[in-house]
Amino acid sequence: MVKLDFSNVLSEEIGHAGVSITEIEYYAKKAISLISEKPYKEFDFIGLYSQDLTAVKELANKARDYEYFILLGIGGSALGPKVILEALSPMHNLKKKPKIFIYDNVDPVTFKNIIENIDLRGTLINVISKSGATSETLASFLIFWKMIRDRKLDVKEHFVFTTDPEKGNLRRIADEYGIPCLFIPKNVVGRYSVLTPVGLFLLEVIGIKSEEMLEGVREVSEKALNNSLEENPMAVAASSLYLMDTIKGKKIVVFLPYSDRLKTLSEWFCQLWAESLGKEGKGTTPYPSLGSTDQHSQLQLWMEGPEDKVILFLSVERHGCQEEIPEEFHDIEGLRFLGGHTLEELINTEQLATEMALTINKKPNLKIIIPKINAYNIGQIFQFLQITTSMTGLLYGINPFNQPGVELGKRLTYGAMGRRGFESEGEEIKDYLKRQRFMI
Ligand code: PA5
Repeated sequence: MVKLDFSNVLSEEIGHAGVSITEIEYYAKKAISLISEKPYKEFDFIGLYSQDLTAVKELANKARDYEYFILLGIGGSALGPKVILEALSPMHNLKKKPKIFIYDNVDPVTFKNIIENIDLRGTLINVISKSGATSETLASFLIFWKMIRDRKLDVKEHFVFTTDPEKGNLRRIADEYGIPCLFIPKNVVGRYSVLTPVGLFLLEVIGIKSEEMLEGVREVSEKALNNSLEENPMAVAASSLYLMDTIKGKKIVVFLPYSDRLKTLSEWFCQLWAESLGKEGKGTTPYPSLGSTDQHSQLQLWMEGPEDKVILFLSVERHGCQEEIPEEFHDIEGLRFLGGHTLEELINTEQLATEMALTINKKPNLKIIIPKINAYNIGQIFQFLQITTSMTGLLYGINPFNQPGVELGKRLTYGAMGRRGFESEGEEIKDYLKRQRFMI
């Protein structure tokens, strides 16, 4: 089971920078009582450990026969699948089939690179969009759609849509052309959707049973409403992070996993935290990081820069490889001492030493620990962070499931690209461009 260590936000460890156990308990209990009321229907994500997997498994069986698998989606419709791929099948394309490409950002060169490395005849394209209205995803879908049709290939054999069960453009096209569909439950929003077919389909395509992940999820989900604080680490994490901001002014949350396989988990967490909590003038800024790499890049700032951060470590007890460092150069102490240890020992020691250095320097930090990286534990981490984030949102008194702040940018894009009904936004863009002052 995923564990939390919150000692280093307590004043007994970090003095004035810390908070008391009584304060943590008070807000943790408040978080539990708030979540127990299930104030938003979007809390349905907590029950995702139990779901019908028949369609996911059937389509994944078929998908495994393809040479290439392309996933089109962005935000919550791509970051979770990226974590699944990188954490559970690292360097996948060097070793396994189908080769997998996740195309989220509509960078034209990335698109060209993908197209040059696949054969559309052997390609299955999974288009993921809950709304069916996201410009980036729809643009890349349109390009692939035309390519498939131009080659006289059957769209039913080359597309799978993952979308809303009832509405949206993808749903409509699927009905008209008989495209196989997987559904994201109505009440589950993008950044909380990795445990729906958004992530589970890819998980099955890479050969891992969804049940393995969902079993881990179940264990964490069942603790979400537990009143005993010993049994509810998510409430303690939410309370700690909330207090670090509201009482101690720590406006930045650095997410710091110690494993290359969890690098994209940093990106996933940052989207979850930022889009869920940054509203009504509230929230803190998540900062994606990686240990031990960023010890040689960011640590100086964390240790001696502005006192505005809390570090959220994610440590992995066993990395699954015991590569030993050879004993060479006995006469050079700077190399000799490394010999006989393993890389796992070194990366874990780097984590511990950084945590201690920060603590000695009175910098608040929390640590989440997983025994090893597998589907079970990755499921636990996803759910742990989703529950913690949404609980923190309830403590702030905001809705952690909407994102009103992204609408204006979308409307301006529609206007600039000539979408009907957005003419005034198009005019606004033209005026704005006229007002820009360039210098050379
Ligand atoms: O969390 C969210 O709701 C967003 O980040 C969405 O996932 C993102 O905007 C993509 O939306 P959609 O799946 O509707 O294309």
